[in-house]
Amino acid sequence: MINLKKIKSICCIGAGYVGGPTMAVIADKCPNIRVNVVDINQERIDSWNDLDLSKLPVFEPGLADIIGRVRNKNLFFSTNVGKFISKSELVFISVNTPTKKYGIGAGKASDISSLEECTRQVAKYATGHTIVIEKSTIPVKTAAAVKAILETTQSDNDLNKTFSVLSNPEFLAEGTAIKDLENPDRILIGGDDNDAINLLKDIYLNWVDINKIITTNLWSSELSKLASNAFLAQRISSINSFSALCEETGANIDELKRAIGTDKRIGQYFLNAGPGFGGSCFQKDILNLTYLSEHFGLPEVAAYWEQVININNWQQYRIYKTVLNKLFGTLSNKKISIFGFAFKADTNDTRESPAIKICKYLLDENASIVIHDPRVNESNIDIDLKDYIKLKFSKWEVSSDFELAAKDSDAIIILTEWDIYQKIDWFKIEKLMRKPAWVFDTRKLIEPNVIKKTNLNFWQIGYGLN
Ligand code: NAD
Ligand code: UGA
Repeated sequence: MINLKKIKSICCIGAGYVGGPTMAVIADKCPNIRVNVVDINQERIDSWNDLDLSKLPVFEPGLADIIGRVRNKNLFFSTNVGKFISKSELVFISVNTPTKKYGIGAGKASDISSLEECTRQVAKYATGHTIVIEKSTIPVKTAAAVKAILETTQSDNDLNKTFSVLSNPEFLAEGTAIKDLENPDRILIGGDDNDAINLLKDIYLNWVDINKIITTNLWSSELSKLASNAFLAQRISSINSFSALCEETGANIDELKRAIGTDKRIGQYFLNAGPGFGGSCFQKDILNLTYLSEHFGLPEVAAYWEQVININNWQQYRIYKTVLNKLFGTLSNKKISIFGFAFKADTNDTRESPAIKICKYLLDENASIVIHDPRVNESNIDIDLKDYIKLKFSKWEVSSDFELAAKDSDAIIILTEWDIYQKIDWFKIEKLMRKPAWVFDTRKLIEPNVIKKTNLNFWQIGYGLN
């Protein structure tokens, strides 16, 4: 039983793609709650505080409007982690949990060291009763470690400090984060303290229907997040495996998608073939799932999920091989234009973007590549392709104009489904390219009947008449 009646102040540790948008929506929907977003990254916090809303560190449709409405009213960004933990009754931990790069589990397990560090900070700075919420995606059973740290630190320190630990995973997708947060399919809250669960529920009830709020035990909540991402990623690998079969057989992936997606049990969503899933989470979370399955003595389960990643890697490899084959088996001294570098449209995020792997394959073939993306900063691409020399010396460059990028190129590869690529005048592009010129559409953006009126050679994913 806790004696908290109402939440007046929230702290969120981690001002990233989840922490920033999620807290912005909470602040917008709950004007009576003060929301403090804290982070150790000064540059990131400065960008969140930038008066020029186009400089926010995260691009998401609708986000800048909300920030403009609530920032410095009831939403605050700061690097003073301790101060805002101490002033808050509820602390979200929304820090990154990347794949571990060292020691046991390297390359598979999730690295929860930042989450542990934050938990220690909460133990140190919290005052009174504090509800600690796992917002980050973490291995199942992490709440046990969080509780252990909070409880042991509490006994040496201040007996008035007490804690409840909840799991409240985030299901937003980048590019639609604001829509997803404002109108979620569900809110999942895992825990064993009903008072704490009800206080968190009360926050969401400001805008979410009660029937959409699911409560479970801690472990179901933690594991459901991994399971959801695994199911979603599995659908992409499934449809991508069929895209390859379509190309071999004369079937068409769009027709297949319609035929199978109209079965209500399968459903029509998340069946778009493409260059494979990217983003910071699907691969990381499935790797973590395989690690956990092995850890719990279930190698068959691990092998099953590993195959989702294998197909994803293969899809990128086979796109590269297709390009190579169509261009007479050599890319040396050829210019390839990459249209889209973000891992999906409507985000500036390039983490694990299929474009990175595909560009690296092309660069290893000695191609010269020019990259265009309407939202990704050149500095991000610099980091992603840091092992490769920029064009001055031979290899790659970034262009802010896709027509300039297309000029004299031998091939264009569409890798991100940005709207602007849908409106391209292919007759104009045709005149700019070196012949024979190829267009590879890995996102099914182009209407084949339109481009086929040009003299461009055309390949589209899952299109049986390629
Ligand atoms: P991110 O890298 O964009 O942001 C994490 C932030 O945490 C960074 O700004 C970092 O500086 C900060 N941080 C790290 N250690 C810290 C510490 N000790 N103290 C204070 N700040 C610290 O990550 P993200 O994309 O927001 O993801 C966060 C978590 O949410 C991950 O576990 C991820 O799996 C999960 N998730 C992400 C998404 C998504 O779409 N990106 C969706 C759902 C869930
Ligand atoms: C995904 C999930 O959709 C979210 O529910 C989850 O919260 C999030 O991961 C997370 O845990 O990080 P996100 O990665 O942001 O969200 O974006 P998605 O829309 O899922 O796309 C992921 C990748 O799959 C992208 O590269 C996208 O292009 C690709 N994709 C998606 C396809 O190739 N086909 C599809 O039909 C859908």
